Amino acid sequence: MSSTKIKAKISGTGMHVPPKVVSNFDLEKIMDTTDEWIRQRSGIETRHHVEGQGTADLAYEATLKALESAKCTAKDLDLIILSTLSADHMFPGSSALLQHKLGLETTPAMDLRAQCSGFLYALNVAKAFIESGIYKRILVIGAETHSPVLDFTTRGRDVAVLFGDGAGAVVVEAAGPQDSKSSVGNIVLHSQGQFADRLWIERPGTSGGTWFTEQHRAEGRQYPYMEGRYVFKHAVERLIEVTNEILEKEGLGLGDIDHFLFHQANIRINEKVAEMMKIPLEKCPSNIQKYGNCSAASIPMLLDEVVRSGRVKRGDKLLMAAFGAGFTWAAGVVQF
Ligand code: ACO
Repeated sequence: MSSTKIKAKISGTGMHVPPKVVSNFDLEKIMDTTDEWIRQRSGIETRHHVEGQGTADLAYEATLKALESAKCTAKDLDLIILSTLSADHMFPGSSALLQHKLGLETTPAMDLRAQCSGFLYALNVAKAFIESGIYKRILVIGAETHSPVLDFTTRGRDVAVLFGDGAGAVVVEAAGPQDSKSSVGNIVLHSQGQFADRLWIERPGTSGGTWFTEQHRAEGRQYPYMEGRYVFKHAVERLIEVTNEILEKEGLGLGDIDHFLFHQANIRINEKVAEMMKIPLEKCPSNIQKYGNCSAASIPMLLDEVVRSGRVKRGDKLLMAAFGAGFTWAAGVVQF
C-alpha cells in the first residue's frame, strides 16, 4: 500500500502591535539614555507599548488577521500553540485565555517557552503534529508584552530600550495536492541551559524554595538581566552555525534562499551574521527599527509584514533563524 507523506504549509499570517508608539526620545525623558546610543547600538528607533492589554489580547488580534488570511475560522483549528516569555499569568498559559477569547469550547491550547526561538520551536511542533496526521490545522503564535516587566529607570536602561510589545501568528495546515510549492521544511532546534543566568528574569520563581522576597525586590531581580556583550557574541556564532546546519540538512546553498528572516534582537547582530556569511543585506528584511525586540513574536511579525507588502510571494524560499535566552537557538526553511 503506498502512502503519500503529509506536508505542512503556512496558509495564513497576521500580526498586531498595540497603538502606543514609544520613541527613543520618549525614553530620553525618563532615563539616562540617548536616541543616538540606542540607534547606533541596536538600530531601534521606536517600539510599541501596551496600555492595559496583556499577551493574550495581542495574540487575539494577530490571530484574527492570520485566520482571515488563511480563509478559515477559529472553529477550524485543531490546536493552539502560543509561544511567549511574558505570559499573562504564571498559570494557566496565555493560550488558554486566547482559546476562550476566540469563542472556542474545548480546542486544545498550550504555551511553549523557548524565548526568542519560541516561534521556531512552536512551528516545529505544529509541523510534527500535521505530518503525523494527528491534526490538520494548527494556530502558531508568538506574543509578548514586555513593557510591564521592564525597569524604565537608568538602572534598567541596557535592556529596557531594546524590547517592545507585539504578536505574530500563522496558521499551519496540511498541504493539499495543489500546494506543491508550499511546505514547512526542516527545522533544527538547540538549547544550552548552562547559560540560563546570562539572560533571564530570575524572580518570581520557585528555584531555591522561595518565590519572591523583599530582598529580591530590593535587588531588582524581577527585571530582566542580560550580559549584553556575552549574548551578542553567542548570538552571532550560533546564528551562523545554525544557518549552515539547516542549509546542509536541506541540501541548499545560500543562493537558493530568497529571504533570510532573522530574529530581530539587534540590527548589528544580523548585519554581522550577514557580513560574515556573505548574505546580501537586501535578502535580510528587518523591522526592529519600528518594533524593537519582540522575542517570540519577532519572526512571525516580520513574516506577516513581508508577505503583506508583497516582498515575499508564494513559492519563495525563506530561511528563519533565532537566538535567545536559555540559551536557545533554532533555524528552519519554509517554502512559503
Ligand atoms: N543608554 C546609554 N548608555 C547605555 C545604555 C543606554 N540605554 N545601556 C548601557 N549603556 C552604557 C553602559 O552602561 C556602558 O557604559 P560604561 O562604558 O560607562 O560602562 C556603555 O553604554 C556600553 O555598554 P555595553 O553593554 O558594553 O554596550 P554594547 O555595545 O555591548 O551594547 C547591547 C549593548 C545593545 C545590549 C548589546 O550588547 C546587545 O545587543 N546584546 C545582545 C542582545 C540580544 O541579542 N539579546 C538576545 C535576545 S533577547 C531574548 O532572548 C529575551
